[in-house]
Amino acid sequence: MDDVYLLKFGGNAIKGRRDLARLSGEVASLIKDGARIVIVHGGGPEINAELERNGIEPVKVAGVRVTDDATLEITEKVLRSINADVVEELRAAGVDAIGIPGHMVAEFVRREPYMATVDGKEVLVDLKNVGEVTSASVDTIGDLLESGVTPVIYPIGADSEGRHLNVNADSMAAGIAAGIRCREMIQITDVPGILLDVNDPSTLQSSLTLEQVDRLIGDGVISGGMIPKVDACRRALEAGVAKVRMVNGRDENSIVSDIMQEGIEHGTVISR
Ligand SMILES: Nc1ncnc2c1ncn2[C@@H]1O[C@H](COP(=O)(O)OP(=O)(O)O)[C@@H](O)[C@H]1O
Ligand SMILES: [Mg+2]
Repeated sequence: MDDVYLLKFGGNAIKGRRDLARLSGEVASLIKDGARIVIVHGGGPEINAELERNGIEPVKVAGVRVTDDATLEITEKVLRSINADVVEELRAAGVDAIGIPGHMVAEFVRREPYMATVDGKEVLVDLKNVGEVTSASVDTIGDLLESGVTPVIYPIGADSEGRHLNVNADSMAAGIAAGIRCREMIQITDVPGILLDVNDPSTLQSSLTLEQVDRLIGDGVISGGMIPKVDACRRALEAGVAKVRMVNGRDENSIVSDIMQEGIEHGTVISR
């Protein structure tokens, strides 16, 4: 699907109605220019806030949320509500958007407990109700795009028995991007891209290979929420997506429209 762009954004990058309206305006103009768009969104900060209101402390391991039953219920409720807001703003901008849970357009497996090094110690990590995409329904997404609809996907999957699973939004995006082999996957986040020093925007790496990314993970330069993001880039690239990129959604002038003009480079482009 080489005219399809997959846009993924999280709740830190796109905060509230104003940001959503801005993004929606850009999506509308991209569609007018002939692009087809698939949107995947997360909602980390909103989920954390709602968990805390319910007396649950948010826990993440390597950027992925540990999701017990109570956390899953809250996560799903918050994601559904964000999804409704995104769809509403897109429609207000003239985009024929529909909201879809991940489990309607992809298949998932539950992530089994695994051994990992945390704070220098080997521990068993059990993420509980967390899944990852095994395959995406290319036909369903293709049919929607074909009829001029923009799918807005929130990252709740289901296992083969229909039990719901929380999915990191970056890995949801990667699974879809890999399945439909879109032209470009753009991750809209709250940093300018991959930085050598997270506190210094001048250390932006405008292009990196997967090998360089591995080195930066090994050195601890890439950590936390950036880990599922680069994993997502790897998966998409290995599946044949031509380009993957991270950009800053906090950038006031443009979120995505600039980057689709040839030759204008923003953020970090990762290549094989
Ligand atoms: N090397 C790095 N460069 C940029 N950001 C990094 C890096 N390492 C870790 N991060 C963190 O990753 C975060 C983005 O991931 P996350 O918080 O999950 O956002 P999103 O909601 O976009 O998924 C950044 O805000 C930053 O704190
Ligand atoms: Mg994240």
